[in-house]
Amino acid sequence: MSELSRWEDLFREGNLKELSLGAMKVTREHFGNSVFLRGLLEYSNYCSCNCFYCGIRRDNGRVERYRLDDDMIYAAVDSGFIRGLRTFVLQGGEDPEFGTDRMCRVVREIKRRTGDAAAVTLSCGILSRESYAALKDAGADRYLLRFETADTELHSYLRDGVSLERRLKALEDLRSLGFQTGSGFMVGLPGEDDELILRNIRLARKLELDMIGIGPFIPHPATPLRDAPQVPLEKTLLATALLRLFCPRAHIPATTAAGSLEPDGREKMLSCGANVLMPNISPVEVKPHYLLYPGKICLDEDGLHCIGCLGGRVAAVGRKLSFDRADGLICKRRDRVEAGT
Ligand code: SAM
Ligand code: SF4
Ligand code: FES
Repeated sequence: MSELSRWEDLFREGNLKELSLGAMKVTREHFGNSVFLRGLLEYSNYCSCNCFYCGIRRDNGRVERYRLDDDMIYAAVDSGFIRGLRTFVLQGGEDPEFGTDRMCRVVREIKRRTGDAAAVTLSCGILSRESYAALKDAGADRYLLRFETADTELHSYLRDGVSLERRLKALEDLRSLGFQTGSGFMVGLPGEDDELILRNIRLARKLELDMIGIGPFIPHPATPLRDAPQVPLEKTLLATALLRLFCPRAHIPATTAAGSLEPDGREKMLSCGANVLMPNISPVEVKPHYLLYPGKICLDEDGLHCIGCLGGRVAAVGRKLSFDRADGLICKRRDRVEAGT
């Protein structure tokens, strides 16, 4: 039996102790004790998509919609940069008003203000290859686009007709354009069983991702999935540990959704192999309107306050915060292979 199928069996048995021990060994080998920070900026909650799981989906008429203006974005980046952040993640709905030209302008300006000292990560959904190419030209370094679930039927159903194939094509476009590429999935979507979680993890490994974001699915009351059961965090923890064993070099965040489901959910993910935290540096006045799921944490706190809070939380689990921009290890290796060095 291969090493990986042995780990898969431990996942099926729910043996979190063994899995997390193995996962932490691998995490320390590649990242030491460091937990890398990424400043998250939620620039727009307008979305033309209607994903069944998402609180800011198009048909949720109860959302107060906002779009940050450029100066608000730069002010958040400037204060994060002064505080030491060296990665800025711009995330939003698929908002046609926040088009490619505007995003290119914002990326260029962030790069100008911070130099190559800071990496810019985008998470703006599915765009054309031409748009991705323009964003790369403007200086964007990384892109996050979760595949959400590896099951084709469940994917089309939950994403209101948008296929998994289309999502994977976008990921291929991003990779071939030279982005450090991130993807991932939610744990506990309705209709999912352990075998599907294993397929998600195998797909993440196959995609050779630089970053892999996973987190618990939390049903939102104003979505079609409002009555779905809440799967306990334990399942996400098992998946995190197995993911670390399958993808040793990937950056894996301890996600806000885990911290929203349980007060120490992020610390628990860190103890299962996660090595990244993403403080939310969006202006406090818009934070309550980017409610993907109920119970989201840190809505009243300034992102810089969160950095202090996170320092204490990682110390409590024997790790330390790192302000390094921490580029992807997979793409670095790919670059070396292509350069023949
Ligand atoms: N619009 C872009 C996209 O869909 O890729 C980026 C923003 S989207 C809100 C970011 C992620 O939030 C999604 O990839 C999804 O996994 C997660 N998400 C959405 N609704 C959620 C929920 N109810 N519970 C947990 N995570 C959720
Ligand atoms: Fe829009 Fe992303 Fe939410 Fe889907 S998950 S509705 S694409 S913001
Ligand atoms: Fe935001 Fe603790 S991380 S208040």
